Amino acid sequence: MTNVLNPARLRPKKLRLGVNIDHVATIRNARGGGHPDPARAAEIVAQAGGDGITLHLREDRRHIVDADLQRVADATGLPINLEMAATDEMLAIALRHKPHAACIVPEKREERTTEGGLDAAGLHNQLAPIVGRLTDAGIRVSLFIAPEPRQIEAAMKLGAPVVELHTGEYAHASGEQVAVELKRIADMSALAAKNGIEPHAGHGLTYENVQPIAAIPQLAELNIGHYLIGEAIFCGLEASVKKMRALMDEVR
Ligand code: PXP
Repeated sequence: MTNVLNPARLRPKKLRLGVNIDHVATIRNARGGGHPDPARAAEIVAQAGGDGITLHLREDRRHIVDADLQRVADATGLPINLEMAATDEMLAIALRHKPHAACIVPEKREERTTEGGLDAAGLHNQLAPIVGRLTDAGIRVSLFIAPEPRQIEAAMKLGAPVVELHTGEYAHASGEQVAVELKRIADMSALAAKNGIEPHAGHGLTYENVQPIAAIPQLAELNIGHYLIGEAIFCGLEASVKKMRALMDEVR
């Protein structure tokens, strides 16, 4: 029996919001003490309707540090998504902490933030054992990739169950280019889903640009950080997360 007339079937599933709280640690580290505490931020995110906490433990520990992983996990029942470079050091940390999910990102020491997607196609041999070890440990692997067919194909070859599509080009686009970048993300979300990969998206999302992305029906999760923490300075973290959540829900 077909369900095409059932409106509930036509509606895309709820879109999860993962909140990246790295920049709470950036502010804390500016003074070297314990305030503001990322663990407290994680509790507030849970109260405000966030669905997960994302943390990027960088090689240079410029924001989150090792001890934060356990403290944040202990402070909240929300699933933890650990963003990590494809290195032996980060693999060992992930296997020790066993977060719900690990998102493999490219990492360059001199960059201000994760500037581009992971070259999953070019790095197959380096990534394959890492994806395998994380998967064997029960950690859901995601690859942070540019919205390009060859990267989706590479994720399929690697057996990654999730890809996170880099929305940086979309977020920085202006004029007619916005629609071009949006279409790339929509097309790659559809391609991933068609091939059994759960598509997520993130980077540079704000109140102003989130809705066209949130409306892409195949997307299951957005990961948003810098803007939410920045807005929290003016209106509080609970309010900034709630507002983003409401904007996302409006188009679902
Ligand atoms: N997703 C991934 C994989 C990232 O590396 C980042 C930035 O750390 C984000 C999402 C969040 O990006 P932003 O801080 O610009 O919202």
